[in-house]
Amino acid sequence: MFFDTHAHYDDRAFDPDRDELLPRLHAEQGVDLILDPGCDLASSRAALALAGRYSFVYAAVGIHPEELGAFQEADFAALRPLAEQPKCLAVGEIGLDYYWDAAHKDEQKALFRRQIEWAIELCKPIIVHDREAHGDCLEIVRAYPEARGVFHCFSGSPEMAEELLKRGWYLGFDGPVTYKNARKALEVLSLCPLDRILLETDSPYLSPAPLRGRRNSSANLPYIAEKIGQVKGLSAGEVAAAALENGKWLFGLL
Ligand code: NI
Repeated sequence: MFFDTHAHYDDRAFDPDRDELLPRLHAEQGVDLILDPGCDLASSRAALALAGRYSFVYAAVGIHPEELGAFQEADFAALRPLAEQPKCLAVGEIGLDYYWDAAHKDEQKALFRRQIEWAIELCKPIIVHDREAHGDCLEIVRAYPEARGVFHCFSGSPEMAEELLKRGWYLGFDGPVTYKNARKALEVLSLCPLDRILLETDSPYLSPAPLRGRRNSSANLPYIAEKIGQVKGLSAGEVAAAALENGKWLFGLL
């Protein structure tokens, strides 16, 4: 029933129990599919290795803006054959993070553009990380009308959401929709059509409200689906079913 389109199971937070947790999520918690996006060369490799071990796990490969400092040109060449593997569904997560590092905006933008161009060449969708960089992210994706994908854990304004939706983008919603200060995210949710919503956890981060601060996992997707359902007047199951189809459509699993 659930497709967690953004969960970092390669993260070391899962080292103690990854191989018990993943089969359990799939067999007992209704998690049909998982997409694990890479953040640098090592985690892209690790995400693909996990995807190789579990039929229901897929990967994306890319360089996250937070990894800009450690990024080397050779990493880019090494990522390319990974992106061509059948279980790699997207380029990500990529984007801009001015909360983390506002001193290297130009370098972040250059790396983001380069990876978008690469995704277009490979005909793959992209997974965008946009933290406190809404204007620049929007300006960059406007320049690539043929790019498609998802704004992961969307945190922009309703106006920005409207423009992205008009341009065919999907919006990802995570634990923060359950937080008390989620007013803007709920406004965005109310204008976002059901067929553009993706459910994500960003595990091990961003646990939903009742579990905030603890390690997150795809088992917590129902909290997010339920909150979205409240906004949309639907059951959590209806939201999950729609988001599953949306994810399959965007990431080419239909
Ligand atoms: Ni992430």
